[in-house]
Amino acid sequence: MKKIILIFLTVILAVACHTTKPSKILVTTVETAKDLPTDSLAAVNRKKNLYEQHCMSCHDLAKPSSETEREWRKIVPRMAAMINKNGIVVDSKMEEDILSYLILNCKK
Ligand code: HEC
Repeated sequence: MKKIILIFLTVILAVACHTTKPSKILVTTVETAKDLPTDSLAAVNRKKNLYEQHCMSCHDLAKPSSETEREWRKIVPRMAAMINKNGIVVDSKMEEDILSYLILNCKK
């Protein structure tokens, strides 16, 4: 069982390292997972990917720690509305996932 988990994590890390473009995000996924024991590493990575996929087409990716939770709660719906206007669909579940990733790593 341990072996399977190890292989699983290795694959996730390999994929994450491969697909992640150099960005300004300094937070590592492992730190993130420690902060949120209820979320699996895979879940956090999925949210991080959504964030990177949808939040850097118009401007540089903002550092999650650049804003407080309160600010992210205001900014993300505004940005999601802008993305949807551009014809790319970010549904409420995706918006929630991006927001939770940002809040997890926000300015405390
Ligand atoms: C359709 C283009 C577009 C996309 C996609 C986009 N943004 Fe923005 N973003 C903007 C524009 C334009 C501004 C500056 C004007 C403004 O603040 O409304 C901005 C500003 C910002 C700011 C600074 C705003 C402030 O009030 O300090 C942050 C942070 C931000 N975006 C985060 C995000 C996040 C997170 C996402 C993904 C959910 C995202 N952006 C996706 C266009 C976009």
